[in-house]
Amino acid sequence: MNDFDYLDEKSVYLDAACQSLRPRPVIEALNRYYLEHNSCGERVKYPWGEKTDAMVEAARQKTLKLLKLKSKDYFVSFTLNTTYGINLLLNEISSDYVQKVFTSDIEHNSPFLATMAMAQRLGVPRVVLARNADGSLPLDENFAKAVVVANCAANFDGRQLINLKEVVKKVHADGGLIIIDAAQAMAHYYEMLEKTEADAICFSAHKMYAPSLGVMVVRRDLVPKLTQNIIGGGMVDDVFQDHYLLSAEANKDHVHTIFEAGLMAWGEICAYSVAVDWLASRTKADKKRLESCTQELDDFLRSNSKIRMVGAQANPTMSFYVEGLDSHLLGAALGKQGIMARTGYFCAHYYLDKVCKYPPLVRFSLSYATRESDIERVKEVMRKI
Ligand SMILES: Cc1ncc(COP(=O)(O)O)c(C=O)c1O
Repeated sequence: MNDFDYLDEKSVYLDAACQSLRPRPVIEALNRYYLEHNSCGERVKYPWGEKTDAMVEAARQKTLKLLKLKSKDYFVSFTLNTTYGINLLLNEISSDYVQKVFTSDIEHNSPFLATMAMAQRLGVPRVVLARNADGSLPLDENFAKAVVVANCAANFDGRQLINLKEVVKKVHADGGLIIIDAAQAMAHYYEMLEKTEADAICFSAHKMYAPSLGVMVVRRDLVPKLTQNIIGGGMVDDVFQDHYLLSAEANKDHVHTIFEAGLMAWGEICAYSVAVDWLASRTKADKKRLESCTQELDDFLRSNSKIRMVGAQANPTMSFYVEGLDSHLLGAALGKQGIMARTGYFCAHYYLDKVCKYPPLVRFSLSYATRESDIERVKEVMRKI
């Protein structure tokens, strides 16, 4: 069954790195929440609430299972998006643990700006490490009392943090903390994060076939190193005139509430749970189709002498520019033909504009929703242009 059968033949969606198309079962789960059990999670005692609670708990557990993590070591909290999760953590890590902040040159503005803000707020130095061409992070720094924030996959060419395990080990051995931006990793490379020992992983459910939602996977032993700045309903066990008892302090099973102030996007969390199952059940044939569509489009683009690709290797997320042709005009022309692609610097301004000095780019980002006919259509339209 085609879970993207709502997409007509003429619409070619190549913006999955921003937000993936949602498969039908995920859309149906969201609708079911509104139509059948519209209720607040983790608070109400009536049957609709019990159903929501079961799905929300399943969403947390399935996330850990997908990443092969144990609930005695990690917990899952929901937020708005990757940006919010990273900012929340960087704002709450106690200054006692931070003498330096590290990030890398190929980051999305999300960690790039948030690490800047943290360094400015705490008055500590910030270092921008140049990632190697293969995506690995050089390990010759000392990460003692440092917070390191790096992506697992870049959002313009999909290059990956191939030495992720060594990076986490080194940062911990030096006495630092590491947060992984997994926004671009979850849809197609979540295996990279299996059994990770990173202190936290932040990602966006909307880039992994789920509704708009942020997910944080956090080590339980990071919690004592945080000072809670954002506080409110849903996270307290008891309240007195001038003080309160947090649910997380009262019950270790409620530790996820430390990042969940106020009413959450319960319907989206329920549908995310279905998306995790959907993602985990992609078959070899699904993966092969994505791989061959990627290769086909990559070969086509590289075969044109006027096209300059950003990445060295084929990847479902690919960026390029055409010599002598404005990328925004090209994007608009593609759009008129039903091909939805992004243009500009994709919130990676520092690397693409300041380091590499590329002109604005075009990005095609493929997904499990991409059809062979989409690639043929892109080739046909690009040839004409
Ligand atoms: C690598 C990376 N990090 C962070 C983000 C920010 O994600 P969001 O806008 O969902 O917070 C993105 C978005 O494209 C991204 O690609």
